[in-house]
Amino acid sequence: MTLLQELESRLATALTATLGESTTATVTAAADLRFGDYQSNAAMVLAKARKTNPRALAQEIIDHLALDGLATADIAGPGFINFRILPTAYAARTTALIRDERLGVPATGAGKTVVVDFSAPNVAKPMHVGHIRSTIIGDSLSRIARFLGFTVIADNHIGDWGTQFGMIIYGWNHFLDEAALVSDPISELVRVYRLVNAAAKEDPGVLETCKAELVKLQAGDATNLAIWQQCIEVSKNGLQKIYDRLDVKFDHWLGESYYNERLAGLVDEFLEQGIARESSGAICIFSDNSKPREEDPFMVHKEEGWTDNPAIIRKADGGFLYATTDLATIQFRIDEWKADHIWYVVGVPQQLHFRQLFDAAARWGKTGDFKHIGFGSILGDDRKLMKTRSGDNVGLIEVLEEAVERAAKAIAEKNPDLQGEEAAAIAEIVGIGAVKFAELSQNRLTDYVFSWDRMLALQGDTAPYLQYSHVRIRSIFRKLDAPFDAAAAEVILNEEAEIHLARLLVRFGEVLPTILEDFRPNLLANYVLELARAFHSFFEACPVLKADESTRSSRLALCELTSRTLKQGLYLLGIKVPERM
Ligand code: ARG
Repeated sequence: MTLLQELESRLATALTATLGESTTATVTAAADLRFGDYQSNAAMVLAKARKTNPRALAQEIIDHLALDGLATADIAGPGFINFRILPTAYAARTTALIRDERLGVPATGAGKTVVVDFSAPNVAKPMHVGHIRSTIIGDSLSRIARFLGFTVIADNHIGDWGTQFGMIIYGWNHFLDEAALVSDPISELVRVYRLVNAAAKEDPGVLETCKAELVKLQAGDATNLAIWQQCIEVSKNGLQKIYDRLDVKFDHWLGESYYNERLAGLVDEFLEQGIARESSGAICIFSDNSKPREEDPFMVHKEEGWTDNPAIIRKADGGFLYATTDLATIQFRIDEWKADHIWYVVGVPQQLHFRQLFDAAARWGKTGDFKHIGFGSILGDDRKLMKTRSGDNVGLIEVLEEAVERAAKAIAEKNPDLQGEEAAAIAEIVGIGAVKFAELSQNRLTDYVFSWDRMLALQGDTAPYLQYSHVRIRSIFRKLDAPFDAAAAEVILNEEAEIHLARLLVRFGEVLPTILEDFRPNLLANYVLELARAFHSFFEACPVLKADESTRSSRLALCELTSRTLKQGLYLLGIKVPERM
């Protein structure tokens, strides 16, 4: 049980005794430590319902509270109950945490399966910085869910089927540079795609040929299918290199094309069940009028009033759409993978698509907890969408390259002793960590300004600061003559800085589950920053190696637990820690 759960359980006992009926209430971490560590507004809520005095009720509850050995409680303001945890209780908890592989994190997801749908770039189009957000956030949420005990299936639903392939096939036949395709497939396909685009603008005949190639592909023409297949394969290889660099792993890559054969039957089923109907030759899903219009994704308010906003699942020419594929994908994930939850980490512009998708799936009888985890844009210094000098979207690879280059420079300045391969390996970890942390420390819904200087600063809210903190702690252990056995140590807390460090260490298990309430890895990012700061204050105020034997052992144990918690927290953000830097 976490400390917070322990307090809630004791509070429930006291509430039940006070009110004479089974009652529970929530406890939260206090925002301001001057008022204690945790607080509850139970007395205020319950007094309101009973029309009694909240402070008097709070006193009664406190009189019934058995907090022995754990905390003290007092009343504040209009009737808050504030809890102050005893240093001895923190000491006992941290001592136990050192022996706990899970660092006090409960397995809240045990027995549940979640599919995390993230990254999902489109083949033959460059993976741009917008995909960076999905990839980094999705990977972190997958890691966190897995650590919380969920069975996680990370699925890369790439856009490997669509109208762009008519142009790609044309380009493949006319412009392809085979050598470039081998060395850098993603860029070569993008180059070809751009050439075709330009050619089609000049000559409408080119566009016609592209369309014809697409029709042939969709009809199963062997030559075009072979080109398409090869195109997917080289693209996947190129993407895999990026994911390796980012240390992002998928359990599956079931792209859009995987569902092709299911689409015709799906549309028939929707027609049979009356969920979809024909409209000007297309098959569309309309509102079922079961919801208020404001909440109905199939209704839209325009100047002339409320009108239909249908989702097309088959075009008049027989073609299927993004929505059709996504419905088939939901069915597959529920039937084959027994998914309880599906999380889609996709930018905010696709919000309507997902609202319609979830609504249609529910009407189709596909039940589960489906969430669209949206995010805003990355802006350049000018606060406009980040672009390269030539006006293109900035490619993901270029961002990573530059991050690593800049990290290498910073490291060379800070620690000229580091050389060669070791320096390069550290620069890779620091540069990529910096990009990830800059992303994950933001509220995902806000647009943020991309700033190299800010994300790489050694003193700041950055990955390098956290990685450096970890290095610093490990270096303490390198100074010891004999290995330190943390599992045999007992934590004793006297100094305020020690107590505060312990307070944060104990909180790790409370913070992690809350991240998934609203999918906010930034809560974890904030937590690790606070932990690192608490460590530095502790290390400044409390001598470790020079302390007397029992204090030394206690403080070394705190150092050990801090380094493990920091490393695990960073791991869950997808960030590695170097040995030195
Ligand atoms: N390929 C899409 C894009 O880049 C994202 C796909 C997201 N996943 C999904 N199941 N719709 O916009």
